Amino acid sequence: MAKITASVYTSHVPAIGAAMDLGKTHEDYWKPLFAGYDFSKQWMEDNKPDVIFLVYNDHATAFSLDMIPTFAIGTAAAFTPADEGYGARPVPQVLGHPELASHIAQSVIQQDFDLTIVNKMDVDHGLTVPLSLMCGSLDPKTDAWPCPVIPFAVNVVQYPVPSGQRCFNLGQAIRKAVESYDEDLNVHIWGTGGMSHQLQGARAGLINREWDNRWLDLLIQDPVACAQVPHIDYVREAGSEGIELVMWLIARGAMADVNNGQATGPAPKVAHRFYHVPASNTAVGHAILENA
Ligand code: DHB
Ligand code: FE
Repeated sequence: MAKITASVYTSHVPAIGAAMDLGKTHEDYWKPLFAGYDFSKQWMEDNKPDVIFLVYNDHATAFSLDMIPTFAIGTAAAFTPADEGYGARPVPQVLGHPELASHIAQSVIQQDFDLTIVNKMDVDHGLTVPLSLMCGSLDPKTDAWPCPVIPFAVNVVQYPVPSGQRCFNLGQAIRKAVESYDEDLNVHIWGTGGMSHQLQGARAGLINREWDNRWLDLLIQDPVACAQVPHIDYVREAGSEGIELVMWLIARGAMADVNNGQATGPAPKVAHRFYHVPASNTAVGHAILENA
């Protein structure tokens, strides 16, 4: 049987990808940010998964106002890096896991969540920046990502967006789906995006350290309460793009301590936690949780 053994949480700021691709990681501005991921890169080497289920949001790269799926699962064999801003990053193709992705689609839809099945999809900084932060710089000509990735895109760009509670419930359904897959696979689930940031309007540049850190405490220690935070609190406290954080609740809901909507089991081990301000316009948060 397949099993989720760990979850990873990280912001996905596109300028981080640009800094890596342009060799700027040792500049004074970027050094403290990348230092927070030294542990993580070693952890990835030491805990290499068979598959990463990567929850992220598309930024008008694969989808547009023409079509807005709330939850979209990538079932393709491969996904091409693309981007709406800086242009496609020079990173390896992302290989998928069509068999496990199709199984998860079947199981999660039968658990009454409506997923959009996407057989062809480009992936933007929302997906490739977290991979780069965790795996380091890779040459697209000679290197590959360490394992297949199932992209899972959540609409947090165009209203109406899903609630944290729905994301948390969905995480539980995804774990059930993974655990009913008939092959021994070590699966990691990643929740990406956030933390506080607002890219436009009168409050552009908003960052809220206190709120971010309290929310992260809650996510780790009391995920049931964290799931109840209403979407308007994210927008008010963490800025219009702070709503990306609801995606972290999908990964948290998939951890082993959460059962029937309650945190009943032993709490996951916090292998790593990091917070840094700023990177571009964004507060960067990062955590790694391992199932007890
Ligand atoms: C920035 C952050 C994002 O999450 C994003 O999708 C685009 C830009 C930024 O901080 O510049
Ligand atoms: Fe974003």
